[in-house]
Amino acid sequence: MKRDLLSVLDLSAEEILRLIDKAGKMKAELAAGALPRTLDGKIVGLIFLKPSTRTRISFETAVFRLGGHPIFMTGQDTQISRHEPLSDTARVLARYIDAIVVRTFAHSDVEELAKYASVPVVNALTDHSHPCQILADLLTIREKRGSLEDLTVAWVGDGNNVANSWIYAALRLGFSLNLACPPGYEPESSLVDRAVRETNGKVRLTNDPGEAASGADVLYTDVWASMGQEEEARARKEVFAPYQIDSRLLSCAAPDAIVLHCLPAHRGEEISAEVIESPRAPVFDQAENRLHLQMALLDWLIGSQQL
Ligand code: CP
Ligand code: NVA
Repeated sequence: MKRDLLSVLDLSAEEILRLIDKAGKMKAELAAGALPRTLDGKIVGLIFLKPSTRTRISFETAVFRLGGHPIFMTGQDTQISRHEPLSDTARVLARYIDAIVVRTFAHSDVEELAKYASVPVVNALTDHSHPCQILADLLTIREKRGSLEDLTVAWVGDGNNVANSWIYAALRLGFSLNLACPPGYEPESSLVDRAVRETNGKVRLTNDPGEAASGADVLYTDVWASMGQEEEARARKEVFAPYQIDSRLLSCAAPDAIVLHCLPAHRGEEISAEVIESPRAPVFDQAENRLHLQMALLDWLIGSQQL
């Protein structure tokens, strides 16, 4: 049966850990020039209704590196812009290609595509979540820290799509996740309540960035206004001002803590230039790992199909 990746919750804890292992292995194989071309003859369609640098290029590169062929589509150059139902788009594309990677607004759109496509559908970011980002970030954290045991991640900023995927990852893997968001900008309360309950309080929500950062192994942030929220950007700058990751906040974290950011970053807003440019913030290693994680994901879904 085909597998989709719409949410981190689509994977078991064991599958997440195996995917990270596989990504690390494929990273080494790529560096050694020994990557198997397990996508030979496979075609992956990428439908992007929002801009992207990392996700688009890392997915296209992953497909090429594994010997397959990507086809990039925007809304404008497909009939999606003229309101062809996604259920029809899914059934048509599945007659031509082997997997669909989609970045869009409503999460229900990726669910609709997955429901109707007979090939795997991968969520490359919706307003609700960004699972590929968090899976790759877990690889980065494991590389930098050596393990995912006894891990505390502090999320500082907007309770957005990336934060939601962190909550799902904590639900699956059981690490501690401290979320600090301004009042009114927390993740959906039903999700937070569930996570607090099911992790016995390892997921925590506060409005105080210092409290969330205290003793954390990883400080993580993201833009204050996500794609589609451009009109709110000005108002959000004021509300979020106390939530910047700067050297003062970093000093509250564990002495060897790292700072991660999914990028793109706004220096002087959610993160100071000093911190993001420092060795404490390996954000380009983090961005690179998107490629390796997605190579592993595509190989699992439509290549060797081994995990
Ligand atoms: N982090 C991330 O998904 O970046 P892009 O928007 O450039 O793909
Ligand atoms: N929260 C951001 C993530 C970008 C990768 C957005 O949705 O725009």
